[in-house]
Amino acid sequence: MSGRIELNRKDLAEQEKCMEAVRKILLDRYPNRQPLAFVHSYGCQQNVSDGEKLCGMLAEMGYGFTNQESQADCILFNTCAVRENAEFRIFGNVGNLKRYKRVNPNLIIGLCGCMMQQEHVAKKIRESYPYVDLIFGTHASHLFPFMLKKRLEGQKHVEEIENHNGLIVEDLPVLRDGAFKAWLPVMYGCDNFCTYCIVPYVRGRERSRRPEKILEEVEQLAKKGYKEIMLLGQNVNSYGKGLEEPVDFTELLRRIDDVEGDFRVRFMTSHPKDCTREMIDTIAQSQKLCHHIHLPVQSGSNRILRQMNRCYDTKQYLDLIAYAKEKIPDVTLSSDIIVGFPGETYEDFCRTLDLIRQVEYDFLFTFIYSKRVGTKAAQMEDPVPAQEKSKWFRALLEEQSTIGQKRNEKRIGTVLQVLVDGSGKEGTGRVGGKSGGNITVEFLGDASLIGQLVNVKITQAHNWGVIGEKLE
Ligand code: SAH
Ligand code: SF4
Ligand code: F3S
Repeated sequence: MSGRIELNRKDLAEQEKCMEAVRKILLDRYPNRQPLAFVHSYGCQQNVSDGEKLCGMLAEMGYGFTNQESQADCILFNTCAVRENAEFRIFGNVGNLKRYKRVNPNLIIGLCGCMMQQEHVAKKIRESYPYVDLIFGTHASHLFPFMLKKRLEGQKHVEEIENHNGLIVEDLPVLRDGAFKAWLPVMYGCDNFCTYCIVPYVRGRERSRRPEKILEEVEQLAKKGYKEIMLLGQNVNSYGKGLEEPVDFTELLRRIDDVEGDFRVRFMTSHPKDCTREMIDTIAQSQKLCHHIHLPVQSGSNRILRQMNRCYDTKQYLDLIAYAKEKIPDVTLSSDIIVGFPGETYEDFCRTLDLIRQVEYDFLFTFIYSKRVGTKAAQMEDPVPAQEKSKWFRALLEEQSTIGQKRNEKRIGTVLQVLVDGSGKEGTGRVGGKSGGNITVEFLGDASLIGQLVNVKITQAHNWGVIGEKLE
C-alpha cells in the first residue's frame, strides 16, 4: 500500500494525553464556568464532516458550544477555497473577529481547512490578521489539540499547514450536528485535477478508508437510530484505490446495503468517468440506496469538457443518464454546472442548455467560473466579460426553473417517503424534508415529526419542490 499512512494507537494515545492536559489548563483558567467554542464550517459536506470532528475534540477537551461569536472563548472557522466569493466572505468574517479579541484577550481564534492549505493565503493571514492564533490545513485536523495546548501554554501563534499526503485518521471523537442524518466520509482527496479546481491541491491525493472501518461506523449509526447516512468523497466512485482488500465503490455499496436497520443511504460526489453501469444496477437492486444520482457534468460542450480535463464526452454522459433512467424509473438526477469557463463561447454555453433540456435534471448547482491561483485554467485566456457570463448564468437558472417545475408536476399524485428535517416555508404551518430522490417536500404537520420518515402524497408542484399531505 504505497503512501498510505494511518494514525496508529500510539498517536491516538498521545492525542488523548494532550486533550487531558488541555482539559486541566481550561479548568484552571475557567474555574467557575465552562469555556465555550464557536465553530463554523464553510464549503462542502466534507468540510462539515471535518468540523464535526473538531467539535468532537473540543467537547473532549471540556468546551461547551455557543452559536454566538461574542460569547465564545474559542472561535474556529473551517474554511473553503473552491471559489473566490467563498474566500472573500471568510476574510471579511475574520476581519470582524478583531473586536471580540479586544473585548476578550483570552479569546483563541483558529482558522483551518482548505483555504489554509494554500501558502499565499496562510501568508496573508499571518501578515494582515496577526490576531489569528492558530492556522492549520486539511491534513492537520487531528493535530488541533496539540496546537491548542501550545497556545494555552503561552505560544503566540501556532501553525501546521504541511502537506501530509496520504494520511487517514480513524477513531477521532466526533460530535455530529444532527441526530438523524449523518455524514460519513469513505474517501479523501482527489486525483482528477479538473483544470478549474483547487480541491486536489488543498485536499491531497485520493485515499480510501478501509471498508471494515466504514461498515463499523454504518452499524453504529444504524444502532443509534440514524435515518440517513450520506457517504462522502470528492470522487466516491473511485473508492478503493490502494486498499489491501480489493473493494470498489459498488462492492462497498452492496455491503452497506446489507447492514441491518431502518435507514437510507446517499452518496456524493460521483464523477461521470468513474460511474459504471454496475453501480447503477446496484442502486436499482438495493433496499437502502436512495434513487438519486448527483452526476456533475459541468458543461454540455465537448470542447470545454476537454479543456476542463473531465475525461468524458457528452455522448458517454448521456448514455449513462439513459441507462440510469431505464434501470431506475423514479431516479432523480442532479448536476453541477460551471458557466463562463475560460474560452467558453456562447455556442458552447448553448450546448450546456441543450444538455440540461435533454437530461431534464430535477435540480442543479450552478456556478460562475472563478479563477483559482495555481490551477491550469488560471493560465487560460478568459475574454468573455463578467456581465455576459452573468447573462448566460441567468438564462441557465431560468431554463432549469422551467425543467424543475415540469419534473415536479409529474410527481403530483405519487407518494414520496420524506425524512422530515425542519419547518417548511415561514408562516405556512408546514414542515419539510427531503424525499429519497432528494426532492424538497413540504406538508402540514408539527415539529414532533422532525427526524421521522413519513409518507406524503403529493398535491402541488413548484420549481423549488413539492407540497403534499401526510398519509396516516
Ligand atoms: N468533487 C466534486 C465537487 C467538487 S467542488 C465533483 O467533481 O463533482 C463542487 C463544484 O464546484 C464542482 O462540481 C464545480 O461545479 C464547482 N467548482 C469547482 N471549482 C470551481 C471554480 N473554480 N469555479 C466555479 N465553480 C467551481
Ligand atoms: Fe475538483 Fe474535479 Fe476533483 Fe471534483 S473531480 S474535486 S471538480 S478536481
Ligand atoms: Fe471547499 Fe474544500 Fe470542500 S475547497 S468545497 S471545503 S473540499
